[in-house]
Formats: sequence, structure tokens, C-alpha cells
Amino acid sequence: MKRPNLEAGESPSCGSARIGRIGLPGRPAAPLAVLALVVTVLAATACSPSAPKSRVPGDWTSWRKSVDRVLNYTIPGHGDKARVIYVNAPGWEYAGRAGSGRLEFPEGTVVVKEIYASGNPAPGEKPVTLDVMVKAPGDPDSRGGWLWLVKDLASGKETVMTSTFCQTCHANANSPHPYGDKNPEGAFRDYLYFPPKPGP
Ligand code: HEC
Repeated sequence: MKRPNLEAGESPSCGSARIGRIGLPGRPAAPLAVLALVVTVLAATACSPSAPKSRVPGDWTSWRKSVDRVLNYTIPGHGDKARVIYVNAPGWEYAGRAGSGRLEFPEGTVVVKEIYASGNPAPGEKPVTLDVMVKAPGDPDSRGGWLWLVKDLASGKETVMTSTFCQTCHANANSPHPYGDKNPEGAFRDYLYFPPKPGP
């Protein structure tokens, strides 16, 4: 059985209690296995309204960072707290093929920006918030093709920003700007200030 992913905000109670009741003695093994499967599916379905699916994968720290250093200069929109940016594999694979110029990331690309409590986190310190972009052009909550989310790591609560607040500022990444390589050509960068750039 799939273990609940607590990091991703899933409820630990979903499913497990019901499965326990199937262990009746003297029943043949095969039908029990089928029954177990059916009950698992039912339990998972029954749980879904109370345990909304997380949009933010729990394994972001295993992804490659788009900027090697910790960012802690003050920026509008994200303040002066330390920030670390990770991009998942589909984003890196696309960037490897795309080269320079116009960028349009594939559906399923996820960019996670960790925000720490201070400008200088101690080694091993955990972030408090994640600002996240999930490429999902078909989602009615997407703005500019991305879902814009804020995840509070203490509570696990994820908030999808349905206003254009995040998108409007990030639109500046598609023209020359003061950050990273500054996008001097003003290429469309798909709203990313620090698009992943695979090295040689
Ligand atoms: C006023 C401008 C502004 C607003 C508003 C803003 N951002 Fe950003 N964002 C930036 C800048 C500048 C960066 C570059 C990285 C850094 O220095 O933190 C950035 C970086 C990011 C990144 C890393 C990807 C990249 O562009 O390199 C994510 C993810 C992100 N922001 C999410 C969000 C979300 C979600 C919101 C809304 C809740 C938001 N941002 C609102 C300016 C803004």
C-alpha cells in the first residue's frame, strides 16, 4: 500500500483502517487479495474530498538548482529572506533542448523557490515557505500557463494564487531585467527570472 506522503499534505488516516478488517481467518487467499484491492480503491476515493491532492511534489530538494548560490538580496515581491530555487527534471530536459532564445516549458515543469526565515539560514535549517510555479496550461487557475502557489511548510497548506499578482511581476522576466543574466535580448523566458541553463 502506498504510504501517505505527509510532506505533500496527504492525510495519514486515509485507507489504512479499512484494509485492516480484511484479515478474516479461513478464507482463500486469492479473493481476499482482490477484495483488498477493491477496498483500497474505495478507501482512496472516499478520502479524496477531505485530503486534497498536493500540487507540490515532496522531493524538490533532490532536483537541480537553477542558481547555485543562496539569493538574499532584497527584491520586491519576495523580500530580503534567503531563497533557493529548484527545477524538476522536465524543466531541465526542456532547457537542454531549447538552447537560448524563446522558452516555453512543457506541462509538468515545476519550479520551487524555498524561502527561509532569515537572510542567512544556518546549515541544515529548513525553509518556512515555498513559492511554486507549476506548468499546467489547461488548469482554469493557471495564469500565463502556470499555476502560482504558496505553500506554508508548517501547516502543509497550499494556496493557489488566482489573481494576476504573481504573473504580473514575473512578466518582467520576459524583457530585460536587473536579475541573473538580466535577459538583455528581452527573450520570452516563460516568466522565469532564472531559467534553468544546463552547463556544458
Ligand atoms: C514584484 C515582483 C514579484 C512578485 C509579485 C512575485 N515574484 Fe516571484 N520572483 C521575483 C524575482 C525578482 C525572482 C528572482 C529570484 C529571486 O531573487 O528571488 C522571482 C523568482 C520566483 C521563482 C523562481 C523562478 C524564477 O522566476 O526564477 C518562483 C517559483 C516565484 N518567484 C514564485 C512566485 C509566486 C508564486 C508569486 C506570487 C505569490 C511571486 N513569485 C510573486 C519577483 C516577483
